[in-house]
Amino acid sequence: MTSTAIKGADPRVIFTNVSKTFETVKGPLNVVSDVSFSMSEGSFVSLIGPSGCGKTTMLQMLAGFVQPETGSITVDGAPVKGPDSDRGVIFQEYGVYPWMTVAENIAFGMKLARNKKTKAEQKEAVDHYIDMMKLRGFEDAYPKTLSGGMRQRVAIARAYAVSPQILLMDEPFGALDAQTRLAMQMLLMDLMQKERKTVLLITHSVEEAIFLSNRILMISARPSRVLQSIDLPYAYPRTPEWTASSDFQRMRLELEEVSMQQYAEQQKLFAN
Ligand SMILES: Nc1ncnc2c1ncn2[C@@H]1O[C@H](COP(=O)(O)OP(=O)(O)O)[C@@H](O)[C@H]1O
Ligand SMILES: [Mg+2]
Repeated sequence: MTSTAIKGADPRVIFTNVSKTFETVKGPLNVVSDVSFSMSEGSFVSLIGPSGCGKTTMLQMLAGFVQPETGSITVDGAPVKGPDSDRGVIFQEYGVYPWMTVAENIAFGMKLARNKKTKAEQKEAVDHYIDMMKLRGFEDAYPKTLSGGMRQRVAIARAYAVSPQILLMDEPFGALDAQTRLAMQMLLMDLMQKERKTVLLITHSVEEAIFLSNRILMISARPSRVLQSIDLPYAYPRTPEWTASSDFQRMRLELEEVSMQQYAEQQKLFAN
């Protein structure tokens, strides 16, 4: 028996009754309330919830940047203590370092001691992801000279280059045009299949979540609670044509209704 086989049998990520309250100038703000869910190896879980409800906070707790207040988060059985190379994060914004070129940004994670890549391996990986993300010709460019979509592709390349087993993606494709977005979604599905990644994706797009996920968690207005957990039994790879099917469209309408309700609830919170 290999350890991989044992790992695969257990959930890789477990949230157990996780809550979080921030101290703010206006007093305590409860952002995450009693969230429990797990992710098995190779699963693709999406979170859909209104802006400001606490999704990024959940992802940052799993990444190890923010500590839960109560409850626990484990990765492969061990409590999350801080960031580690087993979890790659793609942030919603500020994903690239402005003082580094495209190639330096992509190589960044591989230079960290904990990732232990040789110079030759780094070069090979940078080359590979420059092509994959269609950044050829921009290796030596600085982020400020690139479009928002290109910068986001650099950020995605940097996270993929370290080859983390668990990918945490915070609205990674929001800044991309429709065509690039689809290309990135197809690439991600391909990567998932080839390397059995475990993915947690935050998205505003119900369509994106259905297209990519095998589980969708519908998140409430603040504080974040899991309102519904929907399993999607559809095989991979999925095709763009599938999004026109009646199965897909029925689910889209259903989830968009839930999503709009929570959006309205969250708007009321902002109004107060
Ligand atoms: N470090 C922090 N200190 C105080 N408040 C915070 C902090 N981080 C996030 N918040 C607040 O928590 C709420 C949820 O934020 P966030 O998790 O970013 O939501 P989402 O990603 O769903 O838009 C927001 O009201 C935000 O202002
Ligand atoms: Mg967010």
